[in-house]
Amino acid sequence: MEALKQKILKDGRALNEQVLLVDSFLNHQVDAKLMAQVGEEFARLFANQGITRIMTVESSGIAPAAMTALGMGLPLVIMKKSSSRILSDDTLQTQVHSFTKNSDYQLTVKRKYIHPGDRVLVIDDFLANGEAAFGAARLIEEAGATVAGIGIVIEKAFQPGGRRLAEAGYKVISLARVAKMAENHIEFCD
Ligand code: G4P
Repeated sequence: MEALKQKILKDGRALNEQVLLVDSFLNHQVDAKLMAQVGEEFARLFANQGITRIMTVESSGIAPAAMTALGMGLPLVIMKKSSSRILSDDTLQTQVHSFTKNSDYQLTVKRKYIHPGDRVLVIDDFLANGEAAFGAARLIEEAGATVAGIGIVIEKAFQPGGRRLAEAGYKVISLARVAKMAENHIEFCD
């Protein structure tokens, strides 16, 4: 998505070879107009797939996911992160490890917000190692629903998440794929 790539080049900043700062428009301050374009693009790319529900992981996935839900006229469900296990019959839960943050968290969703037979589109802001997306997929599948697609705003293509998800059979579409970074230098894949 050209407008997104231009925004990343203009307002994003590569801190080093691993970390891209986009907090001026994606995960602290939010450029709502750009997020609306992101939502329209995901709605177009995932049209005619029988999708019934959009899901994301709090917190930075919420803005692009809400705009996608608006664009597709579907409900949005936000999976929550918790540091401790919540043992409850009405909640699905799985442990996720974040390599970037070097910590584990429990990803949870109430059963009443995801139904057997749902075809779910997962939207998230970043894809690095793919652990959050795999965790989301585990919860969706445990509920008897299907992951119909995974839409990512920024994929760090030099990390293995995209390849791992594709190998597991998931349809992943990323709007901007970063091939390489260095301090103050960002290169996209073709
Ligand atoms: P993975 O799910 O793909 O395995 O990724 P990983 O655990 O390694 O990283 C997850 C968290 O780190 C996510 O935030 C993600 O947005 C953030 N992250 C990963 N790489 C970058 C980066 O280059 N730049 C920025 N700005 N963030 C990055 P989170 O823990 O889910 O927090 P939140 O912001 O959604 O609340």
